[in-house]
Amino acid sequence: MKHGQVPNDFKKLINLKAQEHPNEVFLAMASIMGPADEPNVETPSGWTYFGQFVDHDITFDKGEGINARTPIFDLDSLYGNGPGSQEHSNLYEGDEGKETFIVGNERNPEGDLQRDENFKAMIPDPRNDENIIVASLQLLFQRFHNKLINKEDLSFQDAKKTVLKDYQFVVLNEFLPLIIGKERVESIISNGRKLFIASDLSEVFMPLEFAGACYRFGHSMVRDRYSFNDTFNNSFSNPRLFFDFPGGRPVDGGHQITDIWTLQGNGNTLMRFFDPTILRPLVDADNFAGKIDTKLPPVLFNLEVAPRENNILAHRNLISGQRFELPNGQQVATALIDLGIEVTRLSQEDILENEAPSAIANNTPLWYYILKEAEKQHSGKHLGDVGGTIVGETIIGLLQADPNSIMNDNSESPFNIPTDEEKLSIKDIIKYVS
Ligand code: HEM
Repeated sequence: MKHGQVPNDFKKLINLKAQEHPNEVFLAMASIMGPADEPNVETPSGWTYFGQFVDHDITFDKGEGINARTPIFDLDSLYGNGPGSQEHSNLYEGDEGKETFIVGNERNPEGDLQRDENFKAMIPDPRNDENIIVASLQLLFQRFHNKLINKEDLSFQDAKKTVLKDYQFVVLNEFLPLIIGKERVESIISNGRKLFIASDLSEVFMPLEFAGACYRFGHSMVRDRYSFNDTFNNSFSNPRLFFDFPGGRPVDGGHQITDIWTLQGNGNTLMRFFDPTILRPLVDADNFAGKIDTKLPPVLFNLEVAPRENNILAHRNLISGQRFELPNGQQVATALIDLGIEVTRLSQEDILENEAPSAIANNTPLWYYILKEAEKQHSGKHLGDVGGTIVGETIIGLLQADPNSIMNDNSESPFNIPTDEEKLSIKDIIKYVS
């Protein structure tokens, strides 16, 4: 599927708009949204950044109401427009039909992404170099593609097909159940979607409720410290390590992953984020994801996103929700009930906990509502009724509308990597690539 053939617009699922809040309400909300850093021992922390990697595959609001990503699971954030395209041919090397990603740079030939002379990552979506873990996932999938060509002798197209099939399998079978609960995944698949109605590629779009609120659940899953590798075992007391990487940021936007920090090719490194049990009892950081709740960890609570106004992440998310003219949580809950979806509404007392401003009691910004729902309905382990339905129906809907996705194309994968258990897991991909 070529970029450009899939609609690139944002649209609302529910044609309602919340009453606007003044900026002071958002500032008051942002000030109570943390800091807190509680683990969810059912979800390893790698899934937080896998979630971010998925986000960067399907949605990118550049501010003009246009989605800069195709809203299907085609990893355009990894492959760009392919080796034959003018804009992305410099990502690749090798013979025609067997192109592999160029990885590494002079400071770190294998354990880092390709970088230009200013150490900016040469990848289609710069957001996949935003922090060290998402950058390492980008590298993991690049190296997965490369190994399928170099070791299994697949063609470019077959390697890409294998990568996409395995990635989509992990999204649907491993990631989504952790984020919205297994029962909701099964119920959406067996009872059918009621809200995200797109039956083929010409009808898909990126729902504003997803991009502007519900899928931003991941911000509350970030933790303050992680065990990255044997050298940085419990690191984060200096959050700049996470964003600027240990090699420092020589220019704005540039990074250097020095070889001491390499997350791949160095024993158990990336695996630590998906199987935290391998760390016991060696280290302090537990490498579980944070609970999905209304509290951000100190590192994000205090993070100033960019040197301009409204630079606190929670505040920006709330402002973006209003800029997108989203319905509020209560309006979405009612709309879902009207569609026959089982939804338990949050009470005013739930919403006003923790000295939340009274203005949001019945007019709760959707992002805050779905975080509070996860907290009240599932103790922060996964999303609740409203958040889970929007995230689940969108992800399943985008897969079902794509004739090439694993939900429609049952053809044999060009290559099956070895798996430890019956079903493929991200851990098998990490093992295969290491
Ligand atoms: C350290 C980790 C992260 C940082 C620093 C970060 C930062 C940001 C920033 C600055 C924005 C733009 C906010 C605005 O002005 O509206 C944003 C948007 C967003 N973030 Fe994150 N984020 C992180 C992790 C995540 C994770 C883990 C997820 C989901 C699992 C996520 C989902 C989203 C989504 C869906 C958007 C809107 C994307 C769009 O359509 O443009 N983020 N993030």
